[in-house]
Amino acid sequence: MDALKAKYLAAVAAAADEATLEEVRVAALGKKGEISAQMASLGRMEPDQRKAAGAMLNALKDEIDAALRAKKAALGDAALDERLRTEWLDVTLPGRNRPRGTIHPVSQVMEELTAIFADMGFAVAEGPQVESDWYNFDALNIPPEHPARQEHDTFFMNRAPGDNRPPHVLRTHTSPVQIRAMAAQGAPIRVIAPGRVYRMDMDQTHTPMFHQVEGLAIDRDISMANLKWVLEEFCRAFFEVPSVELRFRASHFPFTEPSAEVDIRCSWEGGQLKIGQGDKWMEILGSGMVHPKVLAAAGVDPAKWQGFAFGMGIDRIAMLKYGIPDLRAFFESDLRWLRHYGFAALDMPDLAGGLSS
Ligand code: PHE
Repeated sequence: MDALKAKYLAAVAAAADEATLEEVRVAALGKKGEISAQMASLGRMEPDQRKAAGAMLNALKDEIDAALRAKKAALGDAALDERLRTEWLDVTLPGRNRPRGTIHPVSQVMEELTAIFADMGFAVAEGPQVESDWYNFDALNIPPEHPARQEHDTFFMNRAPGDNRPPHVLRTHTSPVQIRAMAAQGAPIRVIAPGRVYRMDMDQTHTPMFHQVEGLAIDRDISMANLKWVLEEFCRAFFEVPSVELRFRASHFPFTEPSAEVDIRCSWEGGQLKIGQGDKWMEILGSGMVHPKVLAAAGVDPAKWQGFAFGMGIDRIAMLKYGIPDLRAFFESDLRWLRHYGFAALDMPDLAGGLSS
């Protein structure tokens, strides 16, 4: 028994990993192990002898078992220490990976203009891009035979065969959101509605999908003067220049009366576009006082309420502000273009922090 004890305690001490230790355990205490074989031989002994040998064998078994457990715990600690040593990480180091994606100029400009109009008390309203012809045309005082329906180069959705209702359209402007917002909220109301619009058109300055922002302010005594102030204030903040000059040109829209198209003073020097100076004018939006029929269609009493609306091309003002020459590149998803014109993903524009810095 002394020989057995010496042999297995030495083997336990020498085991360098848990697998070897397990082999030692099986060889000594396993079902077919040496100690277990000795236990089995007890049955063939005389009772006195068996008693003494049994006690000694049990003590030996316990001793080896205790040595095995102690060694196993020590090996476990060592393995953990080794992991802690090799997997060490300095969590106080600064993060190294900047986000690789960038914010698209259209998204950036939408955030910027939302911040500016929010500061003037305008909430954001939304409407669907697949719109009924009533919201897109009729409610905006564009009856079926009106020529504006043709001018809008509308995309029509298919109806199921046999369904003779008028087809839905891809909205040709954000103006239907005027109707939806007024019908849902009533007056007074002050909202902008940025979003995608669709017209069948494609050249250097037109794409079949583009972006507009609608503006709507209805109250008891809102006038064209308020419209002018809001637009000038917007342009000054958006283009980040001390002053801008806007030109209101009499125009016509079925849903406003009177109506005006608005140009901004700018200059082209050496291929560089500058806002606020020079002798060129660039059209950026359509606007006017909301037509009484439009108010009525949205459930707002034109005898009590009045106000202005405008619709501005977002892609157009993005090109102007950031010197982007070709509109079509906006929607080609060319990674090189996106990296060049995109904005850092973590810098959200706000009025206090600077819109585009
Ligand atoms: N919906 C018009 C367009 O797309 C713009 C506009 C909006 C004009 C609101 C006047 C008032 O051309």
